[in-house]
Amino acid sequence: MMKNNVQSQANSIRYASEKASRFTESVIREMSRIATKHNAINLAQGFPDFPACDEIKQAAVEAILDNHNQYAITWGTKSLRDAITAKNKRDYGIELDPERQITVCCGSTEAMVATLLATVNPGDEVIIFQPFYENYGPDAILCGATPKYVQLHPPEFNFNVEELTAAFSDRTKAIIINTPNNPTGKVFNREELDLISKLCIKYDVLAITDEIYEHIVYDDAKHIPLFSLPGMAERTIAINSISKTYSVTGWRIGYVIASPEITQSIRKMHDFLTVGAAAPLQVAAAHALGFAEDYYKKLVSFYAERRDFMLKELAAIGFNCARPSGAYYIMADFSSFGWNNDVDFARYLAEKVGVAVVPGSSFYKENATDKHRFIRFCFCKQFSTLEAAIEKLQKLK
Ligand SMILES: Cc1ncc(COP(=O)(O)O)c(C=O)c1O
Repeated sequence: MMKNNVQSQANSIRYASEKASRFTESVIREMSRIATKHNAINLAQGFPDFPACDEIKQAAVEAILDNHNQYAITWGTKSLRDAITAKNKRDYGIELDPERQITVCCGSTEAMVATLLATVNPGDEVIIFQPFYENYGPDAILCGATPKYVQLHPPEFNFNVEELTAAFSDRTKAIIINTPNNPTGKVFNREELDLISKLCIKYDVLAITDEIYEHIVYDDAKHIPLFSLPGMAERTIAINSISKTYSVTGWRIGYVIASPEITQSIRKMHDFLTVGAAAPLQVAAAHALGFAEDYYKKLVSFYAERRDFMLKELAAIGFNCARPSGAYYIMADFSSFGWNNDVDFARYLAEKVGVAVVPGSSFYKENATDKHRFIRFCFCKQFSTLEAAIEKLQKLK
């Protein structure tokens, strides 16, 4: 058995492409597996442990019974592209052409890869704020880009204007902005977005935005799509998905909004990567995008309650937490417990305390400052799950 494992590992190295050997498997998904193995409460991976609302599930069932079961149009079912257009007009006053500016993908994960493959050449530089959502590193490697990291500094996770400006050069092709941000909970404000847009225009750089948490913003924070800023519609590629807003991470429906020229290239990549997203689920997604304001208000208060509970309890246990203005994660500084390595601490929590989290280093490149100071808690869970996790974490006191 042992011999077989060693042999299969050797074969996997022997047959791995240069690209495949440049990144490891997702730490977040690995932590989920460790959680299952040790029967730990999973506050690692960002998926809800409660059901999606009946209305969206019913819409999916009806779409299947209505025979939406064959390939949809590659770049998305017309009803979904129309719903995305109407939503952008309603929420942000953005006018889109559903025939030429929208590509529906298999989640925003595919949308990001298709976008980078469609726009970035090997050797181009792509600016990424760190800590970053862990897919961006491998995504940049897949398209041969050279990532340039710009630090978001704790505790507020703001960037330094000089550091950002210094990252832009003639080699920069794109910048990735994830707002509301995973893992920090930062919501980029108007001033920050204005500055980014000025730099993008000055250096002729594309702005790729990941706006998957657009509807999960707290207190006075406001989500502003970079696409809506002066001069940015032609150079912004806005990526979004229904995974988080409607609690259907397993449906794999995402989309990209871009100028007609950029959309042509993205559609080609998308076509040959996946052909298209699940047809009946696109029909159900179109229905969900039309939900009334009340749905989104309830979503925010649902998560705000959980955020406040977790912030209070984690602080009482001894964590030093950044207060998220958006999304559903908390970056927690654990230095007060005397540990100095996040991976060891996260393993200890999963194996001995019974709570799985993500070690903060998976959101940082090698040698980054702050890399080993944090773990990330995810709070998109039922209250009973969060309460049970807090009870276990009391052991740390
Ligand atoms: C910032 C961010 N982008 C993208 C994704 C993946 O989204 P999707 O399910 O649409 O592929 C996630 C999932 O956690 C995320 O946090």
